[in-house]
Amino acid sequence: MTFFGHFHAALWRYTFSRPAFRIGRMSLQKNINAPKTSAVPALAMQPDAWDRQSFWQFADKAKAATEALAEQKMKVLPQLPVEALRQFCIQYRFFTIDYISDLALLLVKLPFGGLRSLLSQILAEELGEGDAARAHPEIYDRFLASIGVKSEQIELRLPANRTILSELTAEMSRRSPAFGVGLRGMGGECLCQTYLSVMFEHLRAHPYMREHADDIDWEFWTIHTGEEDIIHGELTRQAIDDYLRQDPSVLPDLASGYERSITAWNLFWENIFDAYASRPRSVS
Ligand SMILES: [Fe+2]
Repeated sequence: MTFFGHFHAALWRYTFSRPAFRIGRMSLQKNINAPKTSAVPALAMQPDAWDRQSFWQFADKAKAATEALAEQKMKVLPQLPVEALRQFCIQYRFFTIDYISDLALLLVKLPFGGLRSLLSQILAEELGEGDAARAHPEIYDRFLASIGVKSEQIELRLPANRTILSELTAEMSRRSPAFGVGLRGMGGECLCQTYLSVMFEHLRAHPYMREHADDIDWEFWTIHTGEEDIIHGELTRQAIDDYLRQDPSVLPDLASGYERSITAWNLFWENIFDAYASRPRSVS
């Protein structure tokens, strides 16, 4: 399936009503009560049809669609039993952990230049810049502990999401640097912040969170939903644009990696919602 085909199919699974997004001949239509398979044929974007402008237009639409999707899905959070909410939050920690090692793999592959330098700075921040206690997974774990997650629960991950993340790591190793930029450089910085901002908004509206707000360690959320992460996103976008200007031939691979990132990200969350926001599922 094509870039747009994958993304279209991924979005189609979700049920919310908004006007269709249109980019040229492409449709990212989302309808309430839509069937799980695409009713609108996904048209192929030929690899040589991409240019920087159409790519960034699509990235903007993807970001808006991600935000709308998150709004729709995350609004259930305040109604979850607190234990389900804890399980829900645990699952995200595995994304942050694997994102760090995938970013390191990407750095190995990239040529010297602005993008490599910027992503190395982001990686250093993720790892606490020399202070292991400041590594973002550590900060996230402090948040989890502060909402009552027990230490024995913290390694329980959904098998389906373990598979998704390990496939991304394998692809990062196997595929081209440009694919890796789309997979982790774009997705991590451009989609993640949007999603987390919406998640945070609904998470803190939960009665347990409100009641215990003063005792909860919110640092992870202030880092990832605030200005710092928005600036990261903007800098990353600029650096990726420069990377594309230097070698426009990498654009199809980059777009393909971004496609993969969006579908993986949506599926990752869909699995979490299925497990904890609708019906129970086993973890290992
Ligand atoms: Fe982070």
